[in-house]
Amino acid sequence: MTATLHAPATGRPTRRHLLSANDLSTEQIREILDTAAEMHTVQRREVKKLPTLRGRTVVNLFFEDSTRTRSSFEIAGKWLSADVINISGKGSSTSKGESLRDTALTVAAMGVDALVIRHSASGAAQQVSQWVDAHIVNAGDGTHEHPTQALLDAYTMQQRLGDLAGRHVAIVGDLTHSRVVRSNLICLRKLGARVTLVAPPTLMPSGIASWAAVDGFELSHDLDAVLPTVDAVMMLRVQRERMSGGFFPTPREYTVGYGLTRQRLDALVAANPDAVICHPGPMNRGLEIGADAADAAQSLILDQVSAGVAVRMSVLYHLLSGEEGTS
Ligand code: NCD
Repeated sequence: MTATLHAPATGRPTRRHLLSANDLSTEQIREILDTAAEMHTVQRREVKKLPTLRGRTVVNLFFEDSTRTRSSFEIAGKWLSADVINISGKGSSTSKGESLRDTALTVAAMGVDALVIRHSASGAAQQVSQWVDAHIVNAGDGTHEHPTQALLDAYTMQQRLGDLAGRHVAIVGDLTHSRVVRSNLICLRKLGARVTLVAPPTLMPSGIASWAAVDGFELSHDLDAVLPTVDAVMMLRVQRERMSGGFFPTPREYTVGYGLTRQRLDALVAANPDAVICHPGPMNRGLEIGADAADAAQSLILDQVSAGVAVRMSVLYHLLSGEEGTS
């Protein structure tokens, strides 16, 4: 890909970033997904190594907890032969009071090529892209965006369902605190999918109705009405760590209204045996998704994890390739 993903408005040399799913055109999304399919074959090889990013350094700078995202970026960088370093908020000088800006400048001063950043503040990755001269990948900023998650979700669904144009995807659950939903909406709409967001009124983000009116997606509070009409259902985690008040009376009531229970799995499969189930993880089993659904043949949850490595290889490749020093 030669086009700029996102050019920072500074006097610094132009670096390509992936800060938002909106940085990508439909063609660029398709290109990343096509490359990911090629990268995915590496995973099945005995020797999982390509020389593509030899001599390049990627730093994972994670100020929030992560299992899947951080380790898949690490594996992705390593399989492309980049040197990968992990720095987390806990255990770094951040816990001694260092600011995000100073930490980012310090890490960048060591000569890194790409910074993959996760932070609890919405807009953190964008901020860092203005401070340092490195490619920035947003690996989740507060409740704002998580573009590589949306790309891997699209990749996974596409592998099973084919072209997503005209396919109906329901995104269900804690929309208010989710960064996955925003990136997915942008990405899925660019790929031509029909999207319905389903949540209790207390977990629908304010202002979503006006966005829905402009962008042509649908909103519902009735999961049972939507489920029989979908090709894919994406369950989102109830993000208790971001909740300050009572968004629902009890966990039991949440599950009754919005959990993917055994009964709802049966209804989904009866209406469409080819429908698939996604969840970005980590799951609250028994709250937003039951074990029957999480482990069903329709579940793509582990496929999403596997796709995460391939999609992140593709993203790193598209950001870093074509520069001096890249073979
Ligand atoms: C998501 C995240 O961190 O935003 N998970 C992930 O990246 N796999 C969703 C979540 O935390 O619920």
